[in-house]
Amino acid sequence: MPRQFFVGGNWKMNGDKASIDGIVNFLNAGAPYKDVEVVVSPPSPYLAYAKDKLKPDVLVAAQNCYKVRTERGEVGEYSLCVEVSKGAFTGEQSPAMLKDLGLKWVIIGHSERRHVFGESDELTADKTLHAIQEGLGVIFCIGEKLEEREAGKTKEVNFRQLAALVAKNPDWSKIVVAYEPVWAIGTGKTASPEQAQEVHEWVREFLNEKVSKEVGGATRIIYGGSVTPDNCVELGKKGDIDGFLVGGASLKPDFVKIINARN
Ligand code: G3P
Repeated sequence: MPRQFFVGGNWKMNGDKASIDGIVNFLNAGAPYKDVEVVVSPPSPYLAYAKDKLKPDVLVAAQNCYKVRTERGEVGEYSLCVEVSKGAFTGEQSPAMLKDLGLKWVIIGHSERRHVFGESDELTADKTLHAIQEGLGVIFCIGEKLEEREAGKTKEVNFRQLAALVAKNPDWSKIVVAYEPVWAIGTGKTASPEQAQEVHEWVREFLNEKVSKEVGGATRIIYGGSVTPDNCVELGKKGDIDGFLVGGASLKPDFVKIINARN
């Protein structure tokens, strides 16, 4: 079954109203986009601002969200376990709030959340399951550090991160897996098409084996890590690279060339 190409733009902690107006202008000018799902991710304070200005051809994602917590309540002699998706989580945002804004996607497990803010595989998997249960699609990020790759642990690390999510038995039709080698993020050292294809193949084989061949075949696996207009076409030619998650280059007008990498 053909997988629709998917290009995400992760703005990270960048931008203000003036610069977002510029991004909105070039994204709207490039629409409509042929045979590609386009999702951009502004910083939280600008989610509604950007969504209200973008054409419907460009979807908006949050860069993170929190998860449900379970509370034990007593009703008479009964002890109940109640899932609570709001409350005392200062600084956090819930999937329900993102849905309330009309968003369809959220990025979860970005390497900066994992390695800068210390989010575990378990928390990342929990957040993903909750976001899907609340009706959002999830761009689920995985990727190894340079020292892990150099130690021959690339497969082990990416499979460990994926296994935490497989254990939650999510609805995989709501998930796009983003392979983002940490050593390629923001460094200008893009994985070669062969390096990226190798890991994407491993990820697909892992899903075939641990979930099902249907899920493995249908799940879009996108690449992130110094994608540019100059390297996107060669990367996009690889059979298991179903799109990109772009950081720095998504803030510039040539991001439209990356969106159209297969056209
Ligand atoms: O989420 C995408 C991001 O991690 C890649 O960043 O700047 O290397 O394209 P960049």
